[in-house]
Amino acid sequence: MPLFSGVLYVWGIMILSVEELDQEIKKRRTFAIISHPDAGKTTLTEKLLLYGGAIHLAGSIKSRKTQRHAVSDWMEIEKQRGISVTSSVLQFDYAGYRINILDTPGHQDFSEDTYRTLMAVDSAVMIIDVAKGVEAQTKKLFKVCKQRGIPIFTFVNKLDRYGKAPLDLMDELENVLGIRSYPMNWPIGIDGKYKGVYDRQKKMIELFDDDTTHGQKARTSVTGTLEDPKFAALLGEDIHQSLVEDIELLDTAGEPFDLDKVAAGELTPMFFGSAMTNFGVQNFLEEYLHLAPPPAPRNSSDGIIQPDDEHFSAFVFKIQANMNPAHRDRLAFIRICSGKFERGMSVYHHKTDKMIKLSQPQQFLAQDRQIIDEAYPGDIIGLFDPGIFGIGDTLCDASHKFDFADFPVFPPEKFARVQAKDTMKRKQFVKGIEQLTQEGAIQLFQQPGAGMESYIVGTVGTLQFEVLEYRLKNEYGVDLLMQLQPFEVARWLAFEDGSEVVPASLKGIDRGMFVHDRHENPVLLVNNEWALGWIVDNNPGLELYHVPMDKKEA
Ligand code: G4P
Repeated sequence: MPLFSGVLYVWGIMILSVEELDQEIKKRRTFAIISHPDAGKTTLTEKLLLYGGAIHLAGSIKSRKTQRHAVSDWMEIEKQRGISVTSSVLQFDYAGYRINILDTPGHQDFSEDTYRTLMAVDSAVMIIDVAKGVEAQTKKLFKVCKQRGIPIFTFVNKLDRYGKAPLDLMDELENVLGIRSYPMNWPIGIDGKYKGVYDRQKKMIELFDDDTTHGQKARTSVTGTLEDPKFAALLGEDIHQSLVEDIELLDTAGEPFDLDKVAAGELTPMFFGSAMTNFGVQNFLEEYLHLAPPPAPRNSSDGIIQPDDEHFSAFVFKIQANMNPAHRDRLAFIRICSGKFERGMSVYHHKTDKMIKLSQPQQFLAQDRQIIDEAYPGDIIGLFDPGIFGIGDTLCDASHKFDFADFPVFPPEKFARVQAKDTMKRKQFVKGIEQLTQEGAIQLFQQPGAGMESYIVGTVGTLQFEVLEYRLKNEYGVDLLMQLQPFEVARWLAFEDGSEVVPASLKGIDRGMFVHDRHENPVLLVNNEWALGWIVDNNPGLELYHVPMDKKEA
């Protein structure tokens, strides 16, 4: 039988048509929402679910602040809706798109996990509080997105309140983050008395009716053109006139819209709205889905892997243990990069050089976990992990073996010495510490000769220590003794000529702490960059890396 070109055959079985794969890829939008605490990420996520039809009434989620844990910003939504507490992706359909929103625990729980999640998305939505502008955490997260060339869309939130002038916010994005913005819509009205938005693409005014549901339901509106006389009457002459002037200014003096620049992460489409009062949310969702990129190609050891490559491939970006305390399960979250995933398929695990059958894949829909039968590039799946997966592992088709190339390791900035309070619990202590290291929640170091009595733990943020303490107690029954260390910088050490790094012969080593990572690589922890400079100057031939040497990032 001749194989006709539009259909893929494997061992003579028709798997899927190229068109089907292509269509599935085109309709997927996989993104994360990044923001500083309290800018409105939880609220916006919930409202996107509301507009997406995944939930029908946005709950007024009360006393969040007191309930907040260091596990996931979605806990509040999840508790309310009965979704599993640490589900890491929400998936729903809207207007022909399949949307995957990945949770970035960007709050107290700021950690490597947050960064890693950004490796699995194709774009990011950055929320800015209209009154506060660009804040510290936003800057950090933005930087990671920028480095990865991830397109960023900006949602300026809390427009129902007093805030900075829109033009000033545009300047702030440019001056603080170094990105130019293109306002997709423009708020109508002044500080806290916003009446609606002007959509610059559609060239339409949208005025919102008063919200009588406290943001629980989608908002109704009146639409029309800028010239329509009814708006001058509805808005009042002054507001209408200043809107006309603003739009003229933006059209003549502003950055032109350029989707290529957006795709390259050089220009951010900017939306104004209020997640709480549903103002501008639907407009944002629709424009965003239209403009945001579908699943992107990825670098690998075998060149660029296109999403429409018929061979399945994916990588592990997150591992989470004990999601269900009753079952002690461990899930590895994979992001599909190419081909089609089918339940029960066998894939090649690059790191162990073994085939693995993927039999109980789970997907996280808005309402609950589901066993899934198939998935496509852009989708996120949770796999039961018997302990073989590590962060960054590649899964691919046995007929096309490669490794995804660029999974970053982030240098820890906070350190603590930890040991079990009760020495009888050492076994559980070691098990728990190793588990959390595998999950990527912490990085593990050891002083030479320290044995397994105590470890030095490195994290990206101090709150990870609380998480560590909490999880060891709750999941392993171990009380920790923890001593914070004064170091803020870790550097992997190597000599230019390849000779062994012997701590005793290094000058100035007592200015920091010499440790090994869990692969026995030598690492130096010091207080600051100044101490590092001294050590480099006084140890000729010594090279320092931000990450282990095999990743070489000096
Ligand atoms: P986060 O996940 O980024 O931390 O933010 P979250 O959505 O939890 O919102 C932080 C606070 O900001 C919440 O108030 C929330 O109601 C409020 N908020 C979110 N969007 C808007 C908005 O568009 N306008 C206004 N005015 N407020 C908004 P809270 O006091 O912490 O909680 P609650 O008492 O309102 O539940």
